[in-house]
Amino acid sequence: MNFIICEDIKELSEKVKKLSFSEKKNKDYEFSKITARPFKGKKGVFWQLEKHRNNQVFHLNLNEDEFFSWLTTEGRQNFRQCCLTAEGTTIHYTVFPDKTKRKVTGNEVKKAQSPGHNKEKSYILKQGENIPALVDLGVFNSEFQVNKSKYDKYKQINRFIEIVDDAFGKLNKDTVTILDFGCGKSYLTFIIYHYFTVIKGVKAKVLGFDLKEDVVKHCNEIAEKYGYKDLKFYVNDITKGEVYQDNVDMVITLHACDIATDFALFHAISHKVPHIFSVPCCQHEVCSSIKKGGDLDLLLSHGLIKERFSALLTDSIRAEILKKCGYEVDIIEFVDFAHSPKNLMLRCKIKKAQVPDLSEIEELMKKYKFEQKLYELVKNDKSQGM
Ligand SMILES: C[S@@+](CC[C@H](N)C(=O)[O-])C[C@H]1O[C@@H](n2cnc3c(N)ncnc32)[C@H](O)[C@@H]1O
Repeated sequence: MNFIICEDIKELSEKVKKLSFSEKKNKDYEFSKITARPFKGKKGVFWQLEKHRNNQVFHLNLNEDEFFSWLTTEGRQNFRQCCLTAEGTTIHYTVFPDKTKRKVTGNEVKKAQSPGHNKEKSYILKQGENIPALVDLGVFNSEFQVNKSKYDKYKQINRFIEIVDDAFGKLNKDTVTILDFGCGKSYLTFIIYHYFTVIKGVKAKVLGFDLKEDVVKHCNEIAEKYGYKDLKFYVNDITKGEVYQDNVDMVITLHACDIATDFALFHAISHKVPHIFSVPCCQHEVCSSIKKGGDLDLLLSHGLIKERFSALLTDSIRAEILKKCGYEVDIIEFVDFAHSPKNLMLRCKIKKAQVPDLSEIEELMKKYKFEQKLYELVKNDKSQGM
């Protein structure tokens, strides 16, 4: 099956979201466009084809072998354009009879690994690896295999580490200091510590903060049990003031509830922390305050849409404020929606801290009458001469 699209799909594996075919080559071919999406069935991965003919849509499910066979024959022969959408990457193919041209937007697909490679190998944290704290936290069983009920969490922390690795893997630093706000049961906090100290061999100081006393106590006991002397947990309400200020390299949050994310982002901004990796959680502030007031009213007419729109608006405003404060910001899909619906990550790197111009955001807020915590915190700080 020597066809570049098949090779890219295999390489990107679970990151692939859909494949869209358009511009048919042969006018007698009955379908004008076809979209294919992978899904997990009981017997492995399947692909659903959505075929468009005039105003009708037909569906066909194929197993993976059948799909690759369809792709290299019918798909290849009948369409000139194909677009592969994957997490972090979009690839446009122009299919000629004798060659296929390809243009990548986003991350380049890594060089193909040997055939039949095990997908597990691409994870930084591998099953079977001796990470004892993950056993205590219930992510691994005693054989260091992922407990089924924690598979989503395992995927999330792996992906988080992968993203941190992209930013920090090549940095020549001997020590790092990291704050995790709203660390909860602290799967990520332990793994960040493991990643830096064991995998990268870097001296890491990692501090986790959470409201819950019992959880913080439990995490400190596990850290002590394994002699992780620079991994510490504190009972702390992030909305109530200062925590830690010295030379912090990175602030992380993973689903820190509601405005706790805003306070964590503000902490990073006001202390000029160079790296922020923040996956926000539910957010209610904008949704409960926003009113109709202009061109976007259509998005505020139905409760469900209003809620989703408000969540997107919140994260867009957070990203914009971070940019205005001097950060380079990407919003990336953190994990597949199926693994967590709260799946956006704000990935930020400081360029040059600056006093933000918030006027555009203010105009929008004035028009739609909503409140947003990060704006409020930065605005007040700015007036004190940030
Ligand atoms: C959904 S949990 C996420 C926990 C963890 N980061 C994870 O992904 O497994 C959110 C955590 O944020 C904590 N939290 C909420 N508000 C907070 C605040 N104001 N200060 C500190 N922690 C807070 C909660 O106690 C809870 O443990």
